[in-house]
Amino acid sequence: MPKDTYYITTAIDYTNAPPHIGHAYEKVLADCIARYQRLGGKKVYFLTGVDQHGQKVQQTAATAGINPATHVAKITKKFKALWEALNLDYDGWAETTDDVHKRVVKAILRKLHDDGQIHKATYSGFYSVKEEQYITEKERNEDGTWEAKWGEVVELEEENYYFKLSEHLPWLLEFLKTNPDRVYPDFRLSQLVNAVEAAAGSDLCISRPKERLTWGIEIPFDSDFVTYVWFDALTNYISFAGYLDESGELPDFESLWPCDAHVIGKEILVPAHGVYWLCMLHALGFPDEHIPRLLVHGWWNIKGEKMSKTFGNIVDPHELMEKVGADGLRYYLMSDISTGQDSDFSDERLLFRFNQDLANDLGNLLNRTLNMIKRYQGGALSGFTHEDELNSNLRSQVEALPDKYMKEMEYFQVSKALAAVWEIISACNAYVDQCAPWALAKDEANADRLASVLYHLAETLAHISIYISPVIPNAAEKIRHQLRFELKEGFTLENVTWGMLSTGHETGKAKPLFPRLETDESKKNP
Ligand code: MSP
Repeated sequence: MPKDTYYITTAIDYTNAPPHIGHAYEKVLADCIARYQRLGGKKVYFLTGVDQHGQKVQQTAATAGINPATHVAKITKKFKALWEALNLDYDGWAETTDDVHKRVVKAILRKLHDDGQIHKATYSGFYSVKEEQYITEKERNEDGTWEAKWGEVVELEEENYYFKLSEHLPWLLEFLKTNPDRVYPDFRLSQLVNAVEAAAGSDLCISRPKERLTWGIEIPFDSDFVTYVWFDALTNYISFAGYLDESGELPDFESLWPCDAHVIGKEILVPAHGVYWLCMLHALGFPDEHIPRLLVHGWWNIKGEKMSKTFGNIVDPHELMEKVGADGLRYYLMSDISTGQDSDFSDERLLFRFNQDLANDLGNLLNRTLNMIKRYQGGALSGFTHEDELNSNLRSQVEALPDKYMKEMEYFQVSKALAAVWEIISACNAYVDQCAPWALAKDEANADRLASVLYHLAETLAHISIYISPVIPNAAEKIRHQLRFELKEGFTLENVTWGMLSTGHETGKAKPLFPRLETDESKKNP
């Protein structure tokens, strides 16, 4: 079957520690893109999962005095529970200890070995235990020490298997030159090109001797070794998409591939995804048009610092959701960062945006609109003939929204798409104040204008409920429920048109959508 599905994946999370807000951001971003594509009428396959092998996992499990399998099962459960709480709507789940995956990794290794793409060699040099990779003198500081990011660095001499990465680097350079759109945002491309140039001549060590690592996928042609965790993990994007699948339970690979967006953080573009992964695919015979697109996002930091156990500044998404709910957290994570850039996480900002944008702007708009329809028109929209500039301005803004919104969403700029929606929400709130329905209601002579104002508000809210749905799906549904506005089966963005609510449409009861949170923190305006 030819490709007919929008295929989106995320990095698979390490199972050495429980999830934090950074992991949550990436998955929510992918979920919003997936939901947006579905809303546009596309078939979507969204794959996410966990990275369960490697030395870090083996060490963490050993420290805890449990076996690695028990350890990863425990952490995997935490990731899954978080994704459920955050309302992620994914289609496929990747666990690298799964037999399906192991079989594909082994088949790939065997093929590359048979094709002469893998050779054995002895390496003697430096090895970063933390990053699970060999490093060279180039990484050393002038005073002879190593940068903190490498953690403990040891000297090793060992035999291993190497993938002939160097043979594919010239192709990769040329490919990136002719296909710059395969890396988004574009400023990441030059970083990647530099890394490819710097890697010239080097091969990739893809095995680890069992003497120091047993928690991995055995090399199919040498049982003394296991597979390097990155070679194993990167393969998940194809193994769980049905590549070489014999079970028939996975999707048809041809219908998914190439992946439309590998959503990854900036630190794993180089070298893992941008160099290793693209060269692995090339070595396997994937043609240029089947090389995936990388969507590289930035990081959430805390007061400019990286979130880490060492700094003791890890933010637990569950604690935040207790305050603002899943939609509150999703909204903050999507609206307070520009895709590709970093942002600073703060509790104060989260509460501020919750109260300001969700409770005041959106929640109040819905609440007062429904209450006025009830109070002044018995809970139903009336027909009207009135037209004025305020009405037509609001309508033109709503009609201009799809273009603005889609332009941003097509390029994964969720915060900018949300800003375009919030412009309409603010315009509606200003419209309520300008039209003052409570004053119109005092004189029967204004009934026609009043009906037009209330119709414009309800209809605009129906549109808003659609555009916010990829980011805050629960709230979108609640709005539609309160408006009694149902989307027909098969509804897509193309069906959005002015006049979705008809004359006589009965609206439902107003219930607070996002009750304001009154805390000391929320009173500050950060
Ligand atoms: N297991 C590897 C990825 C293998 S993909 C074949 C890995 N795991 S991770 O758990 O360390 O990170 C998973 C993803 O979470 C990465 O894309 C990373 O960028 C993202 N984040 C982790 N912390 C983050 C922030 N503080 N902010 C935003 N995202 C960050 O790397």
